[in-house]
Amino acid sequence: MDARAIIAAVRDHKTPSPEELAWFARGLADKSVSDAQAGAFAMAVVLNGLDEQGRIALTEGMRDSGDVLRWDLPGPVLDKHSTGGVGDCVSLILAPVLAACGAYVPMISGRGLGHTGGTLDKLEAIPGVNINVSEQQLRLITREVGCAIVSATSRIAPADRRLYAVRDVTSTVESVDLITASILSKKLAAGLNSLVLDIKCGTGAFMKTPQNAIALAQALVTTANGAGCRTAGLITDMNEPLAPALGNALEVAVCMEVLSGNTDAAPRLYELTVALCTQLLMMQGEDNPVAGRKVKDALRSGAAMERFAHMIAAMGGPPDMAQDWPTHLPKAPIVGEVTAATSGHISAINGEALGLAVVALGGGRQVETDKIDPSVGLSDVIGLGAHVNRGDPLCVLHAADEDTAISVAEKVRAAFTIGEATTRGPLILEGLA
Ligand code: URA
Repeated sequence: MDARAIIAAVRDHKTPSPEELAWFARGLADKSVSDAQAGAFAMAVVLNGLDEQGRIALTEGMRDSGDVLRWDLPGPVLDKHSTGGVGDCVSLILAPVLAACGAYVPMISGRGLGHTGGTLDKLEAIPGVNINVSEQQLRLITREVGCAIVSATSRIAPADRRLYAVRDVTSTVESVDLITASILSKKLAAGLNSLVLDIKCGTGAFMKTPQNAIALAQALVTTANGAGCRTAGLITDMNEPLAPALGNALEVAVCMEVLSGNTDAAPRLYELTVALCTQLLMMQGEDNPVAGRKVKDALRSGAAMERFAHMIAAMGGPPDMAQDWPTHLPKAPIVGEVTAATSGHISAINGEALGLAVVALGGGRQVETDKIDPSVGLSDVIGLGAHVNRGDPLCVLHAADEDTAISVAEKVRAAFTIGEATTRGPLILEGLA
């Protein structure tokens, strides 16, 4: 086969055959396709798109470019993927809840991207936790604990690793086809029975409009199902942070509250986690009320907390995380309120600006090599629609030093619009199966 013919086909609005796309994906992984060819291919896809069959074939080819895990376990192998938002720490609760319900969750996760936090960075806020485990360790922890949240090894979807690096420097990230193949190639390499996708929509998401979120959701759900993994998607609101905390250790603290059964600590986080877990159990044949009850019981009974603590210990973290989590999480030296400049209702929250404020505090990366400060961020973040008087707190800011706290506090204050009373929209906008 010839990379030039494949690129020319996409350039001329024709979809290459599945065999050609699989060959191209293998060529990305073994470097027989050059950077120039990878860049030209990516640009042709951005400009002309692939049809559904082409998108499925590219996803399968990229998935199969490295190791694809196979499991022999006494329960279903399940996972969730979120397209990224602020205060979205669902994964840390969802994985142990599903494990407590008898499922297995080998969750291959990512780091923060832009204004959004990453599950791996959050886990690493817990001292000692090692997310770089071998495939053998991933298998062992998944089998023994029921869940493991880890980084992808270089053997998982190497074609994506290569193509993503090329896209990053050739203005070819923004393509529903390429984003779909990229996300799913990594997830499907984990050998899942079922997957649920949380497609975020709003000011704190990459997809700001329902139209864009729906287009991405449809592409993800049809492609994953077409590639043989039973998949459903929920389009969910991201017009305010999902949890009332942003920043790595602060989000872990909220998750520990929810895992301790304190669901009032983060009602929206709790509601969405329950919905996503319930959806996955329903895809295994449970009916809705039974699945929902199982999920809530896993949290209420402490079974999910027990799974979480077991996972943390197995990954090198403290053995007493369930009991002593407040002593293990790092704390920032400077803590102070950001207050409202006027009175009124919180009528809008710029989630992206809040996420970038956390990055400016040192809680995320400006460049790939930046070291994260896990202790910094925002807590007690006020919700949409709440009423404030001038001087009331909008949130609590946690910083490494006074100067940074002062400069970031202004950005945080500006992210809240105070105006007329407003009603919150639904948390779950639409479901796709
Ligand atoms: N996340 C990914 O893994 N890939 C993309 O292309 C975009 C977001």
